Amino acid sequence: MQPTDLGLERPLAALGVTEPGQVPVRFAALRTHFEGQFQTVHAESEWKIFRDQWLGRKSGVLAQITDNWLKPASPELKRAVGAGLNELRAHVESKIEERRLAIESGSDQSALAREHVDLSLPGVHRPIGSHHLIRQVFQEIEDIFVSIGFSVVEGPEIETPYYNFEALNIPEFHPVRDDMDTFYLDLPKGAPSPLLLRTHTSPMQIRTMEKHKPPVRVIVPGKVYRRDNPDATHSFIFHQVEGLAVDSDITFCDFTGTIEYFVKQFFGHGVKTRFRPSYFPFTEPSVEFDVSCIFCGGAGTATSGGTCSKCKGAGWIELFGAGMVDPAVYGFVNYDAKKVSGFAFGMGIDRLAMLKYQIDDIQVLFQNDVRFLRQFP
Ligand code: DAH
Repeated sequence: MQPTDLGLERPLAALGVTEPGQVPVRFAALRTHFEGQFQTVHAESEWKIFRDQWLGRKSGVLAQITDNWLKPASPELKRAVGAGLNELRAHVESKIEERRLAIESGSDQSALAREHVDLSLPGVHRPIGSHHLIRQVFQEIEDIFVSIGFSVVEGPEIETPYYNFEALNIPEFHPVRDDMDTFYLDLPKGAPSPLLLRTHTSPMQIRTMEKHKPPVRVIVPGKVYRRDNPDATHSFIFHQVEGLAVDSDITFCDFTGTIEYFVKQFFGHGVKTRFRPSYFPFTEPSVEFDVSCIFCGGAGTATSGGTCSKCKGAGWIELFGAGMVDPAVYGFVNYDAKKVSGFAFGMGIDRLAMLKYQIDDIQVLFQNDVRFLRQFP
């Protein structure tokens, strides 16, 4: 507060001060005022304002005293006013300097006290999220395969038709491409190759074999894309884990044994597996693996007595496609088809998660509704 009530704008005569003896009271009032303000100055920004208020050249308190009290003072008063002013100036300057040092060195206790952090107060609680169910299932599957010697690799979600189709023995006009009709990227004219969102994780079979000589044992978790209308069992984006094992002496027996081991680890030892002939251009022979229905125990009848709605009475649920790697594929990666053999599989993770955790709508996996997510902490 500017000390206007101290009569700084008027000459002393106008304040009724005519004798030197009346002067010290005036200065005493100013000093009291100074002390009162001084108590409240702690932060550097406050200090600057305070310093200018008192020492400012044009309108600081001391400048006003000089201009309004000292200069117009009668000769009798001048000496007393001069002495009071000098004394006040010395006091004000030394106090202001003292506070500056205290602020700079951080030793101003009242400032410290105001900035004091109370560690006993409760903090802001930010709940920690959890892994999405799909990520958890990826992890379960990775753990099972890593424990039997597979490594985990990942690949690009944007692929060339060569890796997504041709090198997997799916030439341009092959009818299986119809099911994999998918999203192509808009590319500038003259781009070297069309690009598409991969329709499966199988391209990583090729990329892995191009880079590594046999033996190869990898699994490839990842996202895949297909043009599909969303419903309870379809989504245009979903997840797969690809598997590939190639060595000099891998047999069909190794293949079914590995798959059976995985399925039992994943669904529990009580389940049975079976395979049926199927067709994929990149495996020969190709199979489809089934697991005994985990809802009715393979009986085909529900506990209520009717037909099991999950396996539709069959007692089996289709799990995923697999097979022995087609020798034609080895030709694309410079492997000697006469010397190596191996197997491959590709499973839909969303489907496995839905079976294992009894989820009947694939869409909930993508909606990120916390009421769903919280069920899988
Ligand atoms: N890529 C196939 C698909 O998405 C799944 C698949 C089948 C992968 C057989 C394989 C395999 O590696 O051997 O439909």
